Amino acid sequence: MTRLNVYGKVVAITGGSRGLGLHCAEILVKNGAKSIYITARKQKGVDDAIQYLQKIVETYKDRDQLYHKGQDIIIRGIPADVSTGKGVVAFLNLVQEKETQVDILIANAGASWGAPLDQHPEAAIDKVLELNIKGVFLTIQKFKPLLVKAGNEDYSARILIMGSVAGITPTFGGEGGTYGYLASKAGVAHMGKMLALELGPQNVNVNIIAPGFFPSKMSNGLLEGEFGQHMISHNPKRRIGKQSDIENAILFFAARESDYINGAVIPIDGGHHLGDSVPLSSGKL
Ligand SMILES: NC(=O)c1ccc[n+]([C@@H]2O[C@H](COP(=O)([O-])OP(=O)(O)OC[C@H]3O[C@@H](n4cnc5c(N)ncnc54)[C@H](OP(=O)(O)O)[C@@H]3O)[C@@H](O)[C@H]2O)c1
Repeated sequence: MTRLNVYGKVVAITGGSRGLGLHCAEILVKNGAKSIYITARKQKGVDDAIQYLQKIVETYKDRDQLYHKGQDIIIRGIPADVSTGKGVVAFLNLVQEKETQVDILIANAGASWGAPLDQHPEAAIDKVLELNIKGVFLTIQKFKPLLVKAGNEDYSARILIMGSVAGITPTFGGEGGTYGYLASKAGVAHMGKMLALELGPQNVNVNIIAPGFFPSKMSNGLLEGEFGQHMISHNPKRRIGKQSDIENAILFFAARESDYINGAVIPIDGGHHLGDSVPLSSGKL
């Protein structure tokens, strides 16, 4: 029997204060990670997430099946804007205060903006591309030495880039587009594939997670309306994603068992990236 785990691993997550980034932190700490480092811009978000994760440690620390007994767990965070080199270095410095290597880096922080084409602000395109592409690049660039130190033939260090199915299949909601977002997610996926070629021989795997719609601060506005209903009814699984969907995937792609998967773009969206699965009231085509 295989039981996935990340015992003793050191994890760094950008945008780890809420949403998908916090889900990643939670599943990894529940399954044996030794150190979790998070960053986000707002101090309060970081503090609340640390508190939340520490409670999980307290709850699970004596449960042998889910937790690595006897391990001192480090959970730390710092407010930093990872769309800038300065912010990424601040995060790196925090990690380096206690660690000499990082096993799992999740470049998750991302932003979106939707507006009609003719009203789409230049500043919005800049903001989205700066975080979703430049920020991901800088995060990987600065953390690379620590990842290379961690990787070996028994366990390849992991870079998981939080892409999106929006980088695979464009969706148009009718009221405006997320032009920069779509471009950024396609862009980081492509960049990730090249990094997989470059870093694979150094025992660092690079994979791109491509979620469909999951409830979060970023997506809730869209999901609440007609667009959200459409997304559910036209999804082959007739639902949006839930926390365990992202968690199970992250655990697998962080665990030793996925060692031979490198450079993949992994849709976690019930199959919606393939196209709409349209419900017909008659049930006939
Ligand atoms: N939810 C979905 O349906 C969905 C689908 C596909 C892909 N994704 C991707 O998943 C990732 C997380 O999204 P989410 O839905 O969890 O969004 P979210 O709830 O808005 O969380 C975003 C996280 O990133 C942080 N962040 C934002 N800008 C930052 C910056 N400049 N520097 C550092 N941290 C920053 C936020 O904290 P602060 O605001 O305090 O900075 C927060 O922790 C994104 O890359 C997104 O594109 C989400």
